[in-house]
Amino acid sequence: MPNDTSAPATPATPVLGIGMIGYAFMGAAHSQGWRTVGRVFDLPLAPAMAAVCGRDPAAVRAAAGRLGWAAAETDWRALIARDDVDLVDICTPGSSHAEIAIAALEAGKHVLCEKPLANTVAEAEAMAEAARRARARGRFAMVGFNYRRTPALALARRMTAEGRLGVLRHVRISYLQDWLVSPDFPLAWRLRREQAGSGALGDLGAHAVDLAQHLAGEPLTAVSAQTETFVRERPVPGGSPGEIGPVTVDDAALISGRLASGALASFEVSRVAAGRKNALRVEVNGTLGSLSFDLERLNELHFHDHTADPAEAGFRRIHVTEDSHPYLSAWWPAGHGLGYEHTFTHQAHDLLQAIAAGTDPDPGFEEGLQVQRVLAAVEQSAAENSVLVPVPAPQPAAVPAG
Ligand SMILES: NC(=O)c1ccc[n+]([C@@H]2O[C@H](COP(=O)([O-])OP(=O)(O)OC[C@H]3O[C@@H](n4cnc5c(N)ncnc54)[C@H](O)[C@@H]3O)[C@@H](O)[C@H]2O)c1
Repeated sequence: MPNDTSAPATPATPVLGIGMIGYAFMGAAHSQGWRTVGRVFDLPLAPAMAAVCGRDPAAVRAAAGRLGWAAAETDWRALIARDDVDLVDICTPGSSHAEIAIAALEAGKHVLCEKPLANTVAEAEAMAEAARRARARGRFAMVGFNYRRTPALALARRMTAEGRLGVLRHVRISYLQDWLVSPDFPLAWRLRREQAGSGALGDLGAHAVDLAQHLAGEPLTAVSAQTETFVRERPVPGGSPGEIGPVTVDDAALISGRLASGALASFEVSRVAAGRKNALRVEVNGTLGSLSFDLERLNELHFHDHTADPAEAGFRRIHVTEDSHPYLSAWWPAGHGLGYEHTFTHQAHDLLQAIAAGTDPDPGFEEGLQVQRVLAAVEQSAAENSVLVPVPAPQPAAVPAG
């Protein structure tokens, strides 16, 4: 077994043991976060990468060595039961989130769960309820909407919260990928409703909806939507030659929505937008100005100050690398820039800070549930000719901090 490569604890810093389930894409990204967080930030808790869980014994042992985990397990229940695991980090497909998260919270562990929180509103409600019970025992749960932790988007939130944009009128988000353009792409778990819950909607739309509500500081109250599955059958992985199966999720979704203040939100998410690899673009327009962000240039935020002299006004580029920008004081000198993986370090940082302070992590499971309600309303609207579907109001704790 490899040595524990996570943060060294000084005698004064209590250790928090981490156990992670799933070690592929998000598992690797979260491992990067756990490996770096204690070496970059001064923390009140020292995360120890205690154990990782997968189903194949040889493969999970290899992943433990590669990613820096001290031990490997092949049953997630055994991982939860370990005395050296205080926090369970769930990096598996959505179909397993509810069962694992509820079991971990009931076992007295903190939980970090990847998005979307669950595959259905009923599952998400049960998870939020388990998180409420755990909170009373001093255990906390967070959902992994990592794009909030991009410094430029964290700065955007700071500016909307400070009122720099005035009264918001529009939030406009597109999140486009192209890995499903080819009809030969196999019927992977992300294309099966029973495993993924939905398609581009839950995969990309969950991030977009969370960001819109987070940046605006208010929930969506109603949505109207269209969804489409362009390629309805795909090759079955590991099936007999020529075997195909039905795609049971959407390839793309178009959503218009209304925020609580009356501002309008629009979203386009797709996994068949040829040439777009992971193109997340965000724009917010208010009475005093606008903000614009493009993940392909993630160290930049564009700001238009509408109170400036029109002769000189216009979008100006803020290079979000200054000490005074969110998260940046712990990193490199101004101008050197961060990347995608740093969002996971920041996510680990924010969660450890919340646990140490005994405060709710942001976003908690209530907010994950609220996003799930929006996704369900989108699917209902799409199934009913784009009728406007109300989104139930979140519980007070789920209203984005603002
Ligand atoms: N935050 C983001 O930007 C982001 C990006 C991609 C995926 N995700 C989310 O992360 C989650 C995982 O997605 P991914 O891309 O890492 O998927 P993946 O297919 O790359 O990895 C899933 C992992 O889960 C493991 N697994 C599945 N069932 C298991 C079980 N019962 N016990 C133990 N291990 C199990 C698989 O072996 C694999 O290691 C999903 O909820 C997805 O929506 C989030």
